[in-house]
Amino acid sequence: MKIKGSTNIVGLIGHPVEHSFSPPMHNAAFKLLDMNYAYVAFDVNPNNLNEAIAGAQALNVKGFNVTIPHKVEVMQYLDELDEVAELIGAVNTIDFKNLKGYNTDGIGAVKAIEEVTSIKNKNVVVAGAGGASRAISFYIAKYGAESLTILNRNEAKAQNLAGDISDSALIDEVKSGSISAIDGYVRNADILIDTTPVGMHPHSNDDPIVDAGVMDEDLVVFDAVYNPNETALLKEAIKANAKPVYGIKMLLYQGAESFKIWTGVDAPVDVMENALKDTLNIE
Ligand SMILES: NC(=O)c1ccc[n+]([C@@H]2O[C@H](COP(=O)([O-])OP(=O)(O)OC[C@H]3O[C@@H](n4cnc5c(N)ncnc54)[C@H](OP(=O)(O)O)[C@@H]3O)[C@@H](O)[C@H]2O)c1
Repeated sequence: MKIKGSTNIVGLIGHPVEHSFSPPMHNAAFKLLDMNYAYVAFDVNPNNLNEAIAGAQALNVKGFNVTIPHKVEVMQYLDELDEVAELIGAVNTIDFKNLKGYNTDGIGAVKAIEEVTSIKNKNVVVAGAGGASRAISFYIAKYGAESLTILNRNEAKAQNLAGDISDSALIDEVKSGSISAIDGYVRNADILIDTTPVGMHPHSNDDPIVDAGVMDEDLVVFDAVYNPNETALLKEAIKANAKPVYGIKMLLYQGAESFKIWTGVDAPVDVMENALKDTLNIE
């Protein structure tokens, strides 16, 4: 891809950003479609966030992804928020056309899961109550799950999140509890979503949150962790003949949604997935 005088800039702001997988993923898509865009990563110190947004707008940047630690703070500098981003209380995508914020993390997870099963009328258990859980749980509710149970080490955090989702009236049945009771909940679930960092590199040998013995063949098991690709939890799912959903798919589909928001063009997900796999050294 040639950078020209007319090249449109999109990118990522975070702190740090140098290990991000988004630049190779988006640039592979722009190259395939011969689009006059380039995606770059900007390391923005939290003290400079306001100036970064104003500066990007002045420089006619087309769009940003937003990552840790800016996802919440950045909202105050935007003119508009997408309805679900507002409910989640965090933004991972900015469209500079109207300085509007979106959250595509949750859509990414839901699309990854919906490759394997529909979420509608399913009983879903979510482990963890941090940023990823918030984004995913609201979308699980929006996509018509029958029930949602949020389990966390710090139970009060799970309770707060369950309360916020309940207030949104997107779903009738939302429960919360301690992650120590997860086995009993998983036995009655259709979908298990792990949003904790358990098993993430360099701790890939840590015990998974649930063992194969608790899973049945119909259970769909999604792990938000994508490094390693096949986490200890997904290995247990495979052992149980359950249905694994890989974290890389969430990364892929959140990126695809952002791509569409900025360009209006459907993202070429196959080439984006291959670029991610190359970056992660996955066969
Ligand atoms: N695939 C993707 O595209 C994607 C996108 C976003 C995030 N992620 C992944 O999702 C994970 C969580 O990210 P986040 O932003 O939500 O982090 P976060 O806001 O820090 O939340 C982490 C959550 O995990 C729980 N937790 C942490 N260590 C635990 C342990 N040893 N045992 C049980 N629970 C534990 C925490 O519980 P307490 O509240 O009790 O501390 C908290 O609920 C990370 O691995 C991240 O890489 C993936």
